[in-house]
This record gives sequence, structure tokens and C-alpha cells, in this order.
Amino acid sequence: MIPSKQRERPAMISLEKATRPLKGDIFVPGDKSISHRSIMFGALSQGTTEVTGFLQSADCLSTIDCFRKLGVQIEHAIRPTNGVPTITVHGKGLHGLSAPDSTLYTGNSGTTTRLMSGILAAQPFDSMITGDMSIEKRPMGRIIKPLSQMGAEVASVMGNGCAPLRFTGGKKLHGINYRSPVASAQVKSCTILAGLYAEGDTVVYEPALSRNHTEIMLSAFGADIHNEVARDGSAVAILHPGMPLSGRKINVPGDISSAAYFIVAALMVPGSEILIRNVGINKTRSGILTVLNQMGADITLLNVDESSEPKADILVKYSELHGNENNQFVIGGKEIPTMIDELPVVAVLAATRNFDTVIKDAAELKVKESDRIDTVVSGLTKMGCDIEATDDGMIIHGGKPLKGADINSHADHRLAMSFAIASLAASGTTRILDDECVGISYPSFFKDLLGLL
Ligand code: S3P
Repeated sequence: MIPSKQRERPAMISLEKATRPLKGDIFVPGDKSISHRSIMFGALSQGTTEVTGFLQSADCLSTIDCFRKLGVQIEHAIRPTNGVPTITVHGKGLHGLSAPDSTLYTGNSGTTTRLMSGILAAQPFDSMITGDMSIEKRPMGRIIKPLSQMGAEVASVMGNGCAPLRFTGGKKLHGINYRSPVASAQVKSCTILAGLYAEGDTVVYEPALSRNHTEIMLSAFGADIHNEVARDGSAVAILHPGMPLSGRKINVPGDISSAAYFIVAALMVPGSEILIRNVGINKTRSGILTVLNQMGADITLLNVDESSEPKADILVKYSELHGNENNQFVIGGKEIPTMIDELPVVAVLAATRNFDTVIKDAAELKVKESDRIDTVVSGLTKMGCDIEATDDGMIIHGGKPLKGADINSHADHRLAMSFAIASLAASGTTRILDDECVGISYPSFFKDLLGLL
């Protein structure tokens, strides 16, 4: 018999082509990367950290859960003075975590798994960490390598370079100069977090600057950390350990990765005009705005706030877009890490335009929540798009009319949301299977989308 909860809520959603433009004002939920870090850095600080705008999604709740298991008190309450939901983290300081009594479970969250690993590797106690089926397939060798070089003892329990990971406590760590072969904020942040406990400086080089929330936020919490550009053009993060972290107030801006779905939707549906308020526009995250601007998108930033994590209201109007003189548009190089999570929805937009879009230097897409080269190409092909997979991206021959199809989200939240946006331009009905995975980063996504239509 099917349990009643499942019967009430079918694991699929049906969507039709948009019959009217998107209009209105919206706030998207808080930035996922900043929300995770606010809990982690708050937990490692002296004193309390108060977080407003925290993203209440499955991934960030996994981070809260893990720190509670490490003995950190974290409260969720409505502030009596102004009614604002606030998370309060009662920090334990760098050396105050206690041994968990079971394996830490990170759900679907790569950020929780990799960043926590940097912290666990440096603790005096043993621990284990793992996540769901997707997490247990994602590469962890990329963090095991720098952590081992620092003197940590980290083992992939199955010996396949993936989680579950086992950490042996009580290892003395030393700082390293690490050249990451990939631009990855998760690798960089994991190494830096272990570096907080190491003797000597930790320096991480990456081929291009990945999101730098760890550097910005740790510095605000009191750590001595900064970014530089090396002579060969690689990006460098340098940490001098030894400074205590102090709790602080954090106001999380809206997530540009969530805003991206509505930006693309408004550019796609004729007559649309929407305003997305209070969105984080950190340069290491806003590659989508740069690229769409080069394609001729009518996007205006209003009320720009140039704080360390800058934010703005984003006004988007339906636009005819263009390629370059060869009727082609290429997205690659250093731009890729600044829009890595937005590439699936950019591919959807590209499918609706009369030029070719080449996405290259994006092999990292293969190791996200799903193999996003494969899942984007197979989904868009099903919808009638002329698209080819390449070793490091895809080529989208835009302009063929899209038709509705049954799309498997592969339990990948960004896939489910990207294909929901594709449905707005597709004839007939699009059904997204396993649509509830949007709760990983954006639980109210479908409600918010319908509110704009
Ligand atoms: C994240 C980093 C990115 C991104 C992920 C969140 C983070 O992964 O894809 O959604 O918060 O550090 P990589 O750093 O592995 O590219």
C-alpha cells in the first residue's frame, strides 16, 4: 500500500507553457553558501552569532544538524522586537566542539560534507561523515589529498575516494601551499578551515577565483585571511592562523543562484518585467549577469549596496538576445566558476534563442548533484532542442521550438528548477519527476514561480 503522505503529494509536477508575461516583485530565499558558512563560522567563534535571512532549506538544515551533534547550541526564533526569523549560534570557539555519538549525516549537501571535513580533520576526537546516495558518489579525493598533506588522517571507508569518510582525531596539522587542479570553493574552504588549526600558513592556489565567501566571512569573524592574484594568474587564498574568531551579526542576502531561474524566465517570456529584491551580487557569483549582459539582456541593478558581500535589486525585462558576429556565444574560462550552478538554466535560455551557445571549460558540471552535462543534454534533447554534449560542456544550437516532455530531475534541485523554467517556453505539458528535490535549496520555488505568472 502507498503511504497516505505519498498519495497526497505525487512525486511529479505538471507545468504548461506560459500564457502571460511574468510580472511583479519578489524576494528569493537567502544565499545557500553564506547560510552554511554563517553556522559553521559561528560555531567556531567565541560568543553568539545572530543570522537573519538564513536559508531554511534541506541543505542548510543539514549543516545545523551536524553542528548540534558536535555539541553546538543553535536556536531558531522569531525576534520579539521586529518579528524577523533569526538563527542564534552559541559559539564554542575553535577548540570547543565535542565528539559526536554517531556518524554526521549531510543529506544532499556537498558544501556541508566538504567544509565540515576540514574542521573534523583537525579535531582531537574521531568522527565519521556521510550523506545521501548522490553524496556517496561525489569525489572526495579532492579534499582527502590536501588534508592528508597537512598531516590529517582521513579515509574513504569504501576505498573509492567517496564518502563515508572516517577522521582519526588528535593529529597535529601543519600549513601547506596547495595547488588545487580545479577552481572549487569547497576544496579551498575545506583546506582553509583545517588551516585554522594548523601550525604555519595555509595557502591555496586555484586556476580561477571560485566564490570567496569563506575568505570574506572568516576575515569578518576575525581571521587573518585574504585573496591575491599570483604571477601566473592563478587565484590565491592566504591564511595566517592564530587569530580567535568572534561571533557577529550576519544578514544573508538573497541567493543569486535562486534568482537566476526567474531572471531567465523573464528574459524568455515576451512582455515580462520583474524586480528581484536584495540579491547577493558578489563578483565571484554574478557571472550570469555579465554573460547575459553581453548577450544584450535588459537587466538593471538598483539600490546597489557595496558592502563586503554586495547586494542589489535586479530589474529584468524580456529581451531579444544575440550571439557574436558568427551567431555564436561562447561561455568559458574564468567566467565558469562564477556561474557554475547557473549553467543548467543558462542552457535552457540558450535553447530558446536563434544562435549557438558553446559552454566550455565546465567539466566540473559532471561532479555536481547529478552529471549536469549528461542530465541537461538528455533533458533538453527530449524537449526537442538540438544540443550536443562535449568533454567539458555542451553546444546548444538554439532556436528549435521546445515541446513538453517527462523530465527526470535525477533528484537534482537545479535540474528540477531549470526544466520548470524550460516548460514556460515549451508547447504542451512538461512533467518534472521528483520535483520535491527543490527543497534542497529553494523549498517555495514553485509557489514563487506561480506568483509571478
Ligand atoms: C559551493 C561551491 C560550489 C557550488 C556549490 C556551493 C560552496 O561547488 O557548486 O553549490 O558553497 O562553496 P565547488 O566549489 O565544488 O565548485
